[in-house]
Amino acid sequence: MKLADPLAYLGEQLEAWKKAGTYQRLRVLESASAAESRFDGREVINLASNNYLGLTTHPKLIEAAAQAARRFGAGSGAVRTISGTMTLHMALEERIARFKNVEACVVFQSGFAANAGTVAAVLTPEDHIISDELNHASIIDGCRLSKARIHVFPHKDAAAAARILEELASVPGRKLLITDGVFSMDGDIAPLPALVEVAEKYGAIMMVDDAHSSGVLGRNGRGTIDHFNLHGRVHIQVGTLSKAIGVLGGYVCGSRNLIDFLYHRARPFLFSTSHPPAVAAACMAAFDVLEHEPERIQNLWDNTKYFKQGLTSAGFNTGMSETPITPVIVGEAKVAHQLSAALFEEGVLATGIGYPTVPEGKARVRTIVTATHTRQELDRALEVFTRVGRRMAILPG
Ligand SMILES: Cc1ncc(COP(=O)(O)O)c(C=O)c1O
Repeated sequence: MKLADPLAYLGEQLEAWKKAGTYQRLRVLESASAAESRFDGREVINLASNNYLGLTTHPKLIEAAAQAARRFGAGSGAVRTISGTMTLHMALEERIARFKNVEACVVFQSGFAANAGTVAAVLTPEDHIISDELNHASIIDGCRLSKARIHVFPHKDAAAAARILEELASVPGRKLLITDGVFSMDGDIAPLPALVEVAEKYGAIMMVDDAHSSGVLGRNGRGTIDHFNLHGRVHIQVGTLSKAIGVLGGYVCGSRNLIDFLYHRARPFLFSTSHPPAVAAACMAAFDVLEHEPERIQNLWDNTKYFKQGLTSAGFNTGMSETPITPVIVGEAKVAHQLSAALFEEGVLATGIGYPTVPEGKARVRTIVTATHTRQELDRALEVFTRVGRRMAILPG
């Protein structure tokens, strides 16, 4: 007798997504991630990476990775707290702490692990989290894991965050005010000065996820805290090594006590193997590049202004974007995926994103330019966007 498949409902769900036009096949990258890359057998202008500064293919990072692998091996062999803390891991943490002008830093395997592991470690079920409605999934998961009470405030509304903290003023428990520095789907910047003031007024812990601001905003890419000159006023700064830094990982910066505490209690740190030597060495080389090649950040912003201006003057709705993340908002998820597919056919990769990653009715194709796109590539991409946008009646004919 053939047993019924207890996972049959998964297949039914997949069929439903296919009918709704929201099923996504993974595109396969067959070259390095660069301004122009090869996906699924086609050379395309890549507007879908987080490789803001083009560091994935920087010779200094590649050489550092190769040397470290030859000298220290392919893997670290253990989690950090058992026997997997290598000289390179400690050196990277010290390097980042100096760069960020903080006492100490801990590196996690990913930005996701940094956010989720930290929020879950520092709070208890008796505590309260005041969180922007568009915060990243890794923050949301950390909040849920902590079992603290979650209070969501409307996007970027510092006054609303203050009202929540006012209501909680006499309620026991610690309060954590948490926001993305740059929001990953809309590319807008958090009102950090106002949020920091609110946190200070109510004695809350202030935490910022600078995943999309590290390497992008602030002096030499030091992030939003530097951009707004809020040094010493944000207790927990998260960053990623997977986007502008061009490699893999996440980190938390703050006081020595915070970092020592996370060494003892952050579960991804305690229960998941540390980075291979090549990853840590390449990340260190990336921080050298940030300090010695600031023209990359200038190129990134020049390209950002040029491309954003091109999209808006063509008539696209780019929402609230203020950074290299520029969404082209089309409404229905099906349309976003159709637009993405049509762009790909014409040689441009820009990913369609729908619910639940963004709210219903706000589906989009997200574009991210990098420092290494040439003007010719950006012009070609704009021409393709405009032609396909008109053909699909997203733009007036
Ligand atoms: C705002 C934000 N935080 C955290 C992360 C996670 O970073 P990582 O890719 O290093 O896990 C991302 C990336 O998707 C992000 O967009």
